[in-house]
Amino acid sequence: MFHQDESFSLIIFGATGNLAQLKLIPALYDLVAAGLLPPKMSIIGVGRKELSNAEFRDYSYRVLHQPNRHHQHPIQDDLAQKLLDRMHYIAGDISQPAIYEQLSAMSQQEKSCDNKIFYLATYPDLYQTIFNHLEDSGLNQQKCGFVRVIIEKPIGTNLDSAHQLNRLLNTYYQEEQIFRLDHYLGRETLQNLLTFRFGNSLFEPLINHETVDHIQVTASEDFGIGERGGYYDSVGALKDVGQNHILQMIALATMDAPTAFTNQEITSKRTELLRELIPETDKLVFGQYEGYLQEKGVASNSDRDTFFALRTQIKNKRFAGVPIYVRAGKMMARTVTEIAIVFKDQTKGLLQHLSQDQDHRNILIYRIQPNEGIVLRFLSKKPGFDLQLQDEYLQYCYKHSAADLPDPYLRLLIDALRGDQTFFVDAAEVEAQWQFIDPLIAARQHLHPYTAGSWGPIAAQKLIEADGRKWIEPSVSFCSL
Ligand code: BG6
Repeated sequence: MFHQDESFSLIIFGATGNLAQLKLIPALYDLVAAGLLPPKMSIIGVGRKELSNAEFRDYSYRVLHQPNRHHQHPIQDDLAQKLLDRMHYIAGDISQPAIYEQLSAMSQQEKSCDNKIFYLATYPDLYQTIFNHLEDSGLNQQKCGFVRVIIEKPIGTNLDSAHQLNRLLNTYYQEEQIFRLDHYLGRETLQNLLTFRFGNSLFEPLINHETVDHIQVTASEDFGIGERGGYYDSVGALKDVGQNHILQMIALATMDAPTAFTNQEITSKRTELLRELIPETDKLVFGQYEGYLQEKGVASNSDRDTFFALRTQIKNKRFAGVPIYVRAGKMMARTVTEIAIVFKDQTKGLLQHLSQDQDHRNILIYRIQPNEGIVLRFLSKKPGFDLQLQDEYLQYCYKHSAADLPDPYLRLLIDALRGDQTFFVDAAEVEAQWQFIDPLIAARQHLHPYTAGSWGPIAAQKLIEADGRKWIEPSVSFCSL
């Protein structure tokens, strides 16, 4: 995968922050465990905390052992040690030149060309300072080896600020150096949509307005905001997961077939779809769970959304008149993320006398997590002497143990090392996302309270019921381990 002689430095700004703790350091461990750590890769953490190299390694060791919802497999000491041996730390103020002088000195010690990836796990308001210093100290130069930058959400807080951020990035870097990471694009279950949809002749011809009645997307979590009140209370659910993860799910499930498996083709097909989404500002519900105002870091009178439900449609021929209903939130009944393609009712003809108003429609479900799988509901005759109907399921389950699916961060880290941007978001794509979100934010009127542990406010039920449809209760039984 990597040329043995190439050397890589991964420089993490904000190395002791939340993102690095929860996602990045565990993903680096996975890189070692997968045997994919490039032989000459060093990891340099940069942060405000006064830590020596040894203390940073101790800290990282503890991070690997702390409970982590995203990283639940056991840590082997020999592998952890391999990682820690590659780790270094520079303490200091990101806005001062000293850090960059040390980084330059480290980089000059390298005998061969040093490829650099700057991972900005910091607040976006520090980017400008960091980029400036990297430029002034010559660290941005690609005389020999590449320079790449990875950033994560928030990529702007609206179209205008996203555009400003893209301009800032483009002042210092070419688009092919910029990796805007959305970990949902690194999910196995979402990447497989390309193979499932475009590699089978069976399903894709049916996914259009002639056969599909509607589409539902659910992304519910049975927990609250935890320690992230300060951040969460400044964004809310629609910006936290709607603008990024959920729009990516919709794009991958409904975009047109790319003509080649290339970054340019796939990214432009996703972007095209995002541009076709219609923001229906009158089909929108915002909610807040009861107890949110008592959460740490939340303003006592906050009107931030912890839930949203919406209807959208795709402005193209293929999906004309096919609504997409989305609901997402925290403190809901269950943690589940899925896309359900609900087909039109076929029981109106021959079997009408037996269906007795029951909903027997075919449903194709892409279960993103947990119990990852692809499930198709179909109607069957109940075995017996009388003609009775029952729903049955064809299912493909991804895994046999919780650790079998590659971690999205690991995959995207590998892609960034390889220089493959297919599953990263480019400037045009992120702006297309905001173009859809901005009018929804502007149209917000009410905030509906909902009980923790429920499926959200009643208004969300009414939203879909007004169209004569119902939310599908995500199944707990399929693909359960
Ligand atoms: C993050 C959001 O981007 O995605 C979180 O900030 C959310 O609030 C998380 O919980 C969901 O990701 P995952 O991988 O846990 O489904």
